[in-house]
Amino acid sequence: MKYIIEHMEQGFSEWVTLEYAQIIRDLGASNLILSSLPSETEESDIPQKLRELGLQWTTKPLTQIREEFPELPELEKQRVCLLDPRAKGDLETADSSKFDYFVFGGILGDHPPRDRTRELMTAYPDLLIGKRLGDKQMTTDTAIRTTQLIIEGQIPFEKIKFIDYPEFRFSKNEATEMPFRYVLDAQGRPILPEGMLDLIKKDSEQSLDDIL
Ligand SMILES: C[S@@+](CC[C@H](N)C(=O)[O-])C[C@H]1O[C@@H](n2cnc3c(N)ncnc32)[C@H](O)[C@@H]1O
Repeated sequence: MKYIIEHMEQGFSEWVTLEYAQIIRDLGASNLILSSLPSETEESDIPQKLRELGLQWTTKPLTQIREEFPELPELEKQRVCLLDPRAKGDLETADSSKFDYFVFGGILGDHPPRDRTRELMTAYPDLLIGKRLGDKQMTTDTAIRTTQLIIEGQIPFEKIKFIDYPEFRFSKNEATEMPFRYVLDAQGRPILPEGMLDLIKKDSEQSLDDIL
């Protein structure tokens, strides 16, 4: 199964880099393509961490990724699924035989969500079929993790254990609530990309400094 992230942010923030790094670890580098990077992008613009993990990237849009990666299966109409928080139907285990590709917006979570994923449906209207992963906004790595559990793990959405809007407490006075849904691990803790907790802590200290 192939996963595509249509990159829709400016450059690579630390947050995006940590998310993409975790997605490569979860899927294996050969199963992920990062598409639609700005046309002037060079290998040196890709964060070192992602290069070391073997990120496959292209400036080509979704519809032309095979020009860069000819070994990939054809992108057939109706066999490419866009994970879209505004889609009508939820992704199901039976969808594993209906799609060859799963596409995600490389968009940072925002609160309230701005529905930028819809731009992808507008950009590729004939190609994509939209499916939802429940009614809460997930981070891109969580959306991919959930898709992998449903499609490759054959675990129905209702059986996956999630936590909504977890609070991460760093000290008595310092806590940050994240406005997203996360998958829980076997110990009942939200699964975050490696290094993300430190980044959340750093960001919360920074915003505290800005206030004081
Ligand atoms: C952080 S979300 C971005 C949501 C965003 N606020 C927007 O403007 O659409 C990044 C990507 O994860 C996927 N995603 C997140 N939550 C989802 C959900 N509940 N259902 C389907 N896809 C979801 C979508 O592909 C989305 O583009």
